[in-house]
Amino acid sequence: MRTRLSWYGFLFGYILLISACSSVAISPSNTPSTLNPQGPAAARLAELWWVMFWFGTAVFVLVVVLLFAALLRGRRGTNATDPDNQSIDTGRNWPIWGGIVLPLVVIGIVFGYNIYTLAAVENPNAKSDIKIEVVGRRWWWEVKYPEDGITTANEIHIPVGVPVEIQLQSADVTHSFWVPELHGKMDLIPTRINKIVIQADKAGVYRGECAEFCGLQHAHMGLMVVAQSQADYDNWVNAQEQPAAAPTDPTAQQGQQVFMSAGCVFCHTVRGLDDKQIDRSSVDLGPDLTHLDSRLTIAGASLTKNRGNLSGWVLDAQHVKPGSLMPNIDINSEELQALLAYLETLH
Ligand code: CUA
Repeated sequence: MRTRLSWYGFLFGYILLISACSSVAISPSNTPSTLNPQGPAAARLAELWWVMFWFGTAVFVLVVVLLFAALLRGRRGTNATDPDNQSIDTGRNWPIWGGIVLPLVVIGIVFGYNIYTLAAVENPNAKSDIKIEVVGRRWWWEVKYPEDGITTANEIHIPVGVPVEIQLQSADVTHSFWVPELHGKMDLIPTRINKIVIQADKAGVYRGECAEFCGLQHAHMGLMVVAQSQADYDNWVNAQEQPAAAPTDPTAQQGQQVFMSAGCVFCHTVRGLDDKQIDRSSVDLGPDLTHLDSRLTIAGASLTKNRGNLSGWVLDAQHVKPGSLMPNIDINSEELQALLAYLETLH
């Protein structure tokens, strides 16, 4: 008996250990959890989760207790000499209370709380002064601030403690916008606009993902929400509003020529670059690169933005993200270094 108990104890501990492993090894920002809410909407959803969890646990414990009670009673029953001893009425009441009344009450409470939470999350009382448009594309996020004339990609900047309305659209197939620490999922459906209001309680970078299968690179369609103080946010807006400065360094100037001649300019906008003659009406748009160097990531938040990743992405995008619209660029090493130097001037 004792060996069996210690064996079960070991098994239980082992399961706990292996299930906890992944959350310890990887930094929190890479494994965002709904149960680590950092904004009011996410906090409500987490609360709902815990309510359902504890109701589920209570029901499970009740069922286990009743099961053991029935087993013990059954054993005693076989020893009883007089079967008429047991009341028939109690037996009849069990299905009524345990099978109908109790489930109705529990499901009623959980359902009611669900509706209440959904209504609170869908219609937040706070008015949002900042409106952002997010367009889902295969496989990245176009981010626009219409009032400020800003277009960026895979990165949403918001001020801390301020509700921000995000209008979600899709340029191709159905995607889903999900930043677990800030809100639940919201689909981006072609031909319609969905709205979601996010708010971050404290400064930080919150990772988001596409949560609706949208093709080959669905898993590499991430984004970052950068919540910052009002002053930092204003600085960011001011910087993003500026067109790209013309490169002064000769290598970067050569890189700008490569950008024009190697075909980058046909899909990517750099505001301030003289590209009036470029007709982009027939191509699928790539991310606006005006302030590429100010971003944390590239390639739909699948790579950290640094020189190594950037050169790998430019030369062999089809290896990094097969099926994406970014083609491999055929340039020599000198042109590559010049192009990278130019891209690094796009702060
Ligand atoms: Cu977009 Cu999955």
